[in-house]
Amino acid sequence: MRLIILGGGNMGGAILRALVKTEAVPAEDILLIEPEEAKRQNLGKATGCATKAEIDETVRRYELILLAVKPQAATPAMELLAQWLLPHQVVISVMAGISLQTMRGALGRTKLVRVMPNIPTLIAEGMSVFFASDEVDTEERELVKTFFSSCGTCLEAQDEDAIDAATAISGSGPGYLFYFAEQMTASAKSLGFSNEDALVLVQKTIRGATLLWESQQVSPETLREQVSSPGGTTLAALNHFQSTKVGESIKDGIQHAYLRAKELSS
Ligand SMILES: NC(=O)c1ccc[n+]([C@@H]2O[C@H](COP(=O)([O-])OP(=O)(O)OC[C@H]3O[C@@H](n4cnc5c(N)ncnc54)[C@H](OP(=O)(O)O)[C@@H]3O)[C@@H](O)[C@H]2O)c1
Repeated sequence: MRLIILGGGNMGGAILRALVKTEAVPAEDILLIEPEEAKRQNLGKATGCATKAEIDETVRRYELILLAVKPQAATPAMELLAQWLLPHQVVISVMAGISLQTMRGALGRTKLVRVMPNIPTLIAEGMSVFFASDEVDTEERELVKTFFSSCGTCLEAQDEDAIDAATAISGSGPGYLFYFAEQMTASAKSLGFSNEDALVLVQKTIRGATLLWESQQVSPETLREQVSSPGGTTLAALNHFQSTKVGESIKDGIQHAYLRAKELSS
């Protein structure tokens, strides 16, 4: 299957590099459409794919079209694309907040896929969730899964609402963890560590804890219980988090993210 990537920015560029690196799609089967010359040339050179500055009738030669422009650029890009689309083509969007209904209205086509990737896609450690319209067949769904598995991990959702839910969990999740890391770094500094050392302490703690969790495949509760001995330091902090309802606040925050995702894609 031949693929067009529309938009060679952070996300489109990362997906393109991952697809070529893992050989999920041969470079010669990919066309990157990106208006900015520097980005277009860099990605073309790095991956060996063909490039173009603008959407034109070439689009008709490709089976899959991945939209990776900013949501603000979505309408003009989809209007241009709509002129050339053919019924068998599958349009895959990673654009946050652009619903299938909006895509259907702009493109006049029904073979549509919405994907919510997250920022670690940039290092091929992303978490993506996708939802495909009924018209997308099993083989095409498998292709989408293969593409986004080459950028990390990929799950198929059973309804479009799960895309908004995934936005609040995995899409925005790195931001929550960076916030937690910020608070831990500030604490480390107030306890006497230099900025440099504080960053190392926090970064390696989060990395080590995540790798340990992955290696053991147990629930986070189990691991938390293992590290919080009665009367100990970890439990002192965790008891404080519990009495000040930090857990409730995190869940409320995630609910706000979910509602905002619904609002943006309505
Ligand atoms: N970054 C993330 O973590 C993340 C996570 C989830 C979803 N997403 C989604 O991914 C999409 C892309 O985000 P990004 O961070 O990669 O943005 P970005 O870096 O700004 O990349 C978008 C690229 O699309 C190009 N473009 C604009 N109009 C175009 C057109 N008509 N045809 C071809 N290319 C066009 C832009 O070129 P110019 O610069 O010349 O305008 C730019 O290079 C967004 O819709 C976002 O919601 C991103």
